[in-house]
Amino acid sequence: MRTIIEPFRIKMTEALPITTRGAREGLLAKAFNNVFLLDAECVTIDLLTDSGTGAMSDRQWSALMLGDESYAGSRSWRRFEQTVREITGFRHIFPTHQGRAAERILAATRLKAGNVVPNNGHFDTTRANIEYVGAIATDLPSAAARDLQSEKLFKGNMDLDRLAQAIEAEGAANIPFCMITVTNNSGGGQPVSMENIRRVKELLDRHNIPLILDACRFAENAFFIKEREQGFADRSLLDIAREMFSFADGATMSAKKDGLANIGGFLACNNDDWADDFRNLLILTEGFPTYGGLAGRDLEAISVGLMEALEYDYQRYRHATVEYLASAAIARGIPIVRPAGGHAIFIDAAAFCPHLHASDYPGIGLVNALYLEGGIRAVELGSVMFGKPAPDGGGEIAAPHELVRLAFPRRVYTQSHFDYLIETLDVVWRQRASIKAYRITEQAPFLRHFTAHYEPADGCERFLRS
Ligand code: F0G
Repeated sequence: MRTIIEPFRIKMTEALPITTRGAREGLLAKAFNNVFLLDAECVTIDLLTDSGTGAMSDRQWSALMLGDESYAGSRSWRRFEQTVREITGFRHIFPTHQGRAAERILAATRLKAGNVVPNNGHFDTTRANIEYVGAIATDLPSAAARDLQSEKLFKGNMDLDRLAQAIEAEGAANIPFCMITVTNNSGGGQPVSMENIRRVKELLDRHNIPLILDACRFAENAFFIKEREQGFADRSLLDIAREMFSFADGATMSAKKDGLANIGGFLACNNDDWADDFRNLLILTEGFPTYGGLAGRDLEAISVGLMEALEYDYQRYRHATVEYLASAAIARGIPIVRPAGGHAIFIDAAAFCPHLHASDYPGIGLVNALYLEGGIRAVELGSVMFGKPAPDGGGEIAAPHELVRLAFPRRVYTQSHFDYLIETLDVVWRQRASIKAYRITEQAPFLRHFTAHYEPADGCERFLRS
């Protein structure tokens, strides 16, 4: 059969709020035109994130009942450790309450001020944890990633030449570890090829620099490798994932993504000395090493979820949903980052709204138009999230791209929800000339996108592109 179906049926439902445009206008104004400040019950289709928002399977819900809540040495921990080891092969495994807790422990124990950490693309919490200890987070995406429209495969790859230059310039001693993020979330959810992971590892080995995988979406990356990289078509996703991890010396993981769980994560490594440091800090901030801030039932749900994420039929369906939306957007001429990534569609808001300057925050205009038209919640990844104050104190430097992300929760929305989303996108696209400029009326000193207040403004060029 050519039709790819959801490889599950629905046993429990959750009502979606259906609102009118008039109601949404009032709700958005009350939220200071920032969709982060909306109550979730005012949102019909919530595409803010794919993190922790997935639907668990009946197998996961039944595993919850097996949760052993013993403080130390619980049965659920053993099962979790065994599953993570089966997939990753790492010697030392530490549960954490989510991905950023693993990042914090890694950064706090391994980095000193002035150290440099290269990555194909740091996620913002990874970057923040590195910068918090005074180290420098450097993004080295491949050149192909810069062209948003090119259909090149594996645009999440790391640029090997720039990595070699960075090692030369910094000296290996100042690079306590290098990271690869699979898939590269900040770069559009683009995958990294096995060849790239292997070649990065070879280069790092010559300088004795350990490689850490940010493995949040490892199963989606394994699917792309199976489908698109030569020599992997006949391999299972588990087998491919094992090979990916075999090149790494450790990993940070958010189980809220490819753990198919609503909370959780882990930190893993092979080095015994690193493990001692991780364990000591884990006990201080997360909990005893056999639960790490999670309930025994969470460990059970994650153990099942990690394996379900590696089921081929599940990944094939997930990828088909992303492709379904991507091809509908492309057919209408809607500018999206191509090829579509693993967990999200990224719309190029600058190209969508050519009548707006970066300083008009076109991403905010587009996000708000999607909410007003269809009750859809998306997120801006542009000059609000990544804009920087100009060094001379005069205004702001724009982000390199003005993107809007539609991230897809796992196993949550059906094809008719996607059809509704396509219809909404279609209307907003046809009326794009009316998308408004916004200006910020209130903002926090950092991570301002979460709490900023906006108001519609007349468009004008207020700052320069970087
Ligand atoms: N690394 C990547 C690549 C991520 O996408 C995230 C989270 C994290 C680390 C941190 O994990 O949330 O469990 O602490 N990304 C979510 C998102 C929040 O919406 O993309 P966490």
